[in-house]
Amino acid sequence: MPAVSVIGLQWGDEGKGKIVDLLAGNADYVVRYHGGNNAGHTVVVGTKKFFFHLIPSGIFHKNTTAVIANGVILDPEVLVAEMDTLIKEGINLSKKLIISPRCHLILPYHKKLDAAYENARGKKKLGTTKVGIGPTYSDKVSYNGIRVYDLIDWKDFCSKFEFQAKIKNKILKTFGVPPVNISKSLLRLKKLRTRILPYIKDCFEVLNDAVRRKKKILFEGAHGIMLDLDWSPYPYTTASNTIVGGINTGSGLPFKSLDSVIGVVKAFTSRVGEGPLPTEITGRLAVALRERGGEYGTTTGRPRRMGWLDLEALRFSCKINNVSEIVITKLDILSGLIDIKVCTAYMLGGRKINYAGCGYRELARVKPVYRSFPGWIEDISEIRTYSKLPKECRNYLEFIAKFLDVKIKFASVGAERNANVKMK
Ligand code: IMP
Repeated sequence: MPAVSVIGLQWGDEGKGKIVDLLAGNADYVVRYHGGNNAGHTVVVGTKKFFFHLIPSGIFHKNTTAVIANGVILDPEVLVAEMDTLIKEGINLSKKLIISPRCHLILPYHKKLDAAYENARGKKKLGTTKVGIGPTYSDKVSYNGIRVYDLIDWKDFCSKFEFQAKIKNKILKTFGVPPVNISKSLLRLKKLRTRILPYIKDCFEVLNDAVRRKKKILFEGAHGIMLDLDWSPYPYTTASNTIVGGINTGSGLPFKSLDSVIGVVKAFTSRVGEGPLPTEITGRLAVALRERGGEYGTTTGRPRRMGWLDLEALRFSCKINNVSEIVITKLDILSGLIDIKVCTAYMLGGRKINYAGCGYRELARVKPVYRSFPGWIEDISEIRTYSKLPKECRNYLEFIAKFLDVKIKFASVGAERNANVKMK
């Protein structure tokens, strides 16, 4: 495992946290390279459960350094709160956390703007997490961003913050939203700044040097491929590149240094927020799956929308990321279903259409072509050997692997670290 990436191949919430946690035990560095605290992962350490949004979950492992690389956008409040949780657990962060000076900051006006735009969209809302993601990335590309780098020179930071906040307050006024209190915000940011400064370090040299020394690096993808800014049905996306290409821009690691991409696929589909979901299921079945799978957002607590496995979308995900191995998660949740469906193609106006050929209007109208599989009734959560899985379950897995032309590394059948079924 020299440099490996773990990415979610669906709409996020595939259960990447557990897979990263499993692999991070071997890693020297665990790296976040895009997104912000719109992501959420649950880490189970011993009997304790932790919810993290920003700091890479691998930080709990003894010899692992957590890197927040340049593509990440940082809310100083969230960062310091997560740092405090770790410090309380006795983790010495000075040796374990690196933050790129190139990261852009999520500032109070970004959060207000995110919520203001969402509220103004009314019925056409996108369902963002309202933590300021879109407005922060848009400031980044319009040269209005403020970076971790700017925290180093406090006077300069204050003048940039004031300039931006005054403009943003004018925009907030047009939405009828109370302005950001500039002096109060600066007082708070000054305190947070002193906590962050010790961890600022250029990540480019750290990671490239790690490659040279044959250290093990794990890239922790956030969200899912179906939320990529460029490759999902815009505007029902997140604001970063979730595809594996984001590793190069978001961390500075040369593309060739990445050895493998492990895709994480939930055995069915879920999505939070608005936007088309071709294989969506509603009614009692959706409620049952949601309850059994605990399908509620880690960041917002929103109930997730549910659907059948969408192999047409997944075929795209595997191709664009050059995925050769996948992990199937939450396979145990499907036990007890009489009939399990997978979508193998989309039809629109009587013709086949590919995922990549669809904008959001097409994706909302496509008719999935389903293939049905007989389900299994057995509880499989205690099974650890492939041959002991019910035949119907093996058929399901084999069909997925063949259709996507990938190897299934293992299937997860529970939240615990060891609740995995090794493939043959
Ligand atoms: P934003 O990233 O908060 O701007 O939200 C844009 C869309 O991405 C919304 O539909 C969110 O629900 C979705 N989203 C963002 N991050 C995640 C994630 O980690 N899991 C699932 N959905 C996400």
